Amino acid sequence: AATLYNTLDGEAPLIIAHRGASGYLPEHTLGGYELALQMGADVIEPDLQTTADGELVAMHDSTLDRTTNIEALFAPRNGGYRVSDFTLAEIKSLTVEPTGATASTSYDGFTPSMANPYRVPTFQEVMDLVSAYNATTGKQIGIYPEAKTPNSLAMNEKILQEMKANGFDGSVQNTFIQTFSHEGARQLADLQVEMGMDNAIAALGYAIDLGDGFGVYDATTGGVTALEDLAGFADGLGLYLGYDLDAAFIAAAHALGLTVHGWTFRPTSDEAAWDMFLPWIEAGMDGFFTDYSLRGVEVLDRY
Ligand code: G3P
Ligand code: CA
Repeated sequence: AATLYNTLDGEAPLIIAHRGASGYLPEHTLGGYELALQMGADVIEPDLQTTADGELVAMHDSTLDRTTNIEALFAPRNGGYRVSDFTLAEIKSLTVEPTGATASTSYDGFTPSMANPYRVPTFQEVMDLVSAYNATTGKQIGIYPEAKTPNSLAMNEKILQEMKANGFDGSVQNTFIQTFSHEGARQLADLQVEMGMDNAIAALGYAIDLGDGFGVYDATTGGVTALEDLAGFADGLGLYLGYDLDAAFIAAAHALGLTVHGWTFRPTSDEAAWDMFLPWIEAGMDGFFTDYSLRGVEVLDRY
């Protein structure tokens, strides 16, 4: 088996549990994160939104109706079901339901350790789960929180304060903070310095081949940030698996010291996983956001 990787550090690429084990169990739930840990994921990815009373919860959408049973329990507010219009106590009364083609409410051989595995977790609960797992196993599983846009200064500060209070201050391996706003990423980087923290910052977006260089499309501004500028405040890039993302782009990012993590790996079978991951392993991708942690781990075991 090959032992050398073309990643920036030469180590095996990271398996990043995208929204938890979201191909198997309801996304962004403690049960789903726990299954991803047991499957061997290196990093847990919680997207973050802010409740009406200012608490951070793990939720991809800015609204609650796609992934929970809120419509059966509450009337719409201000015309919808925005996370920011409901309190944490109200959100805690909801059940998160399976959404994807494969996600279910059970997984063979897995019994969640917590009483209510499919509720909306707070960011604190996500960190508690990972910290407890690390303490028990001696591993250094990282977290990869995403400040969903628009990420206000208050939200960015709260994310960092909670991470620092939980020991995710740069001392736990493979811990990143990500956002689609490049200005937001720059702000997070500056705040970390002020707070004495040193987690990696990842700027999200879409790879762009500019012809005489490379950049990343910033969906929040519609602009393109040159790789050289990103390297001024970011440690890595989280990029869509399409457009101009290829081995040449990854090599250019590596030359500037930037890691590249691609999203989203959703192989539809064990057989399809090898074909999907292999070209990106060979291209030197540093990590894979995947809904199917086990399929990613098994591909790396076989490689
Ligand atoms: O954060 C990387 C990837 O998760 C971006 O996609 O929409 O699933 O947050 P999304
Ligand atoms: Ca995300």
